[in-house]
Amino acid sequence: MQFQSSDIKAMDSRRRAAFINSVSGFKSANLVGTVNAKGQSNLAIMSSAVHLGSNPPLLALIIRPSSEEHQTLANILDSGCYSLNHVSASMVEQGHQTAAKYPEAISEFDATGLSPAWHSDFGAPMVAEASIKLGLTLREHHELEINGTNLVIGEVVLADVPSGCVGEDGALDLVSADTVALTGLDTYCRAATFKRMAYAKPHLAPQVLWDSSAQ
Ligand SMILES: Cc1cc2nc3c(=O)[nH]c(=O)nc-3n(C[C@H](O)[C@H](O)[C@H](O)COP(=O)(O)O)c2cc1C
Repeated sequence: MQFQSSDIKAMDSRRRAAFINSVSGFKSANLVGTVNAKGQSNLAIMSSAVHLGSNPPLLALIIRPSSEEHQTLANILDSGCYSLNHVSASMVEQGHQTAAKYPEAISEFDATGLSPAWHSDFGAPMVAEASIKLGLTLREHHELEINGTNLVIGEVVLADVPSGCVGEDGALDLVSADTVALTGLDTYCRAATFKRMAYAKPHLAPQVLWDSSAQ
């Protein structure tokens, strides 16, 4: 089945959103924790976290334009910091519910029953139930001309991860952390590791480091 540009444009908006939201492949599911100047906490699920570079350690988010003010964006721009908390399988229902448009005075922590966790040296709330919690400071914000979305670039200044998840080479074992993957805006998937590959070099054939079928 092939879809041309004209087919995509002709889809009704919900169908097109579901289609285009899943074409990029599996995505991460993170809860973005922020606080406003009045001290009200906010939590919102986002699937757009992307790695920009490791030195400095940068992650980007795409925050959509909205007719009403996006509390997450306003809080990040105001406070200069935010947390990213991996959604694990046991938190999917509460995490998904943070997408609901609650009024500013209602914290998604209270509405969903997820618990705020504060680190003494970091200014935004993390999610106590999340096994992987990151603290970021805002480095750049750009409103993109093409569609009015906001590119928010943050530097990772704090990473709170279970010690058992950190591999010998430093990579996190997200499967053992029970971190889920997302397709589209509503489908949560469990990951299963089946292969690890060596660093690719032009003069070497692909080298399998580990294969679950060989265990
Ligand atoms: C699975 C999922 C992923 C989402 N990813 C994003 C995202 O990457 N960027 C975004 O702006 N909104 C995203 N949303 C929508 C926000 O969660 C939603 O607009 C939320 O109400 C924003 O909260 P706020 O108004 O408190 O900032 C996503 C929603 C769902 C259900």
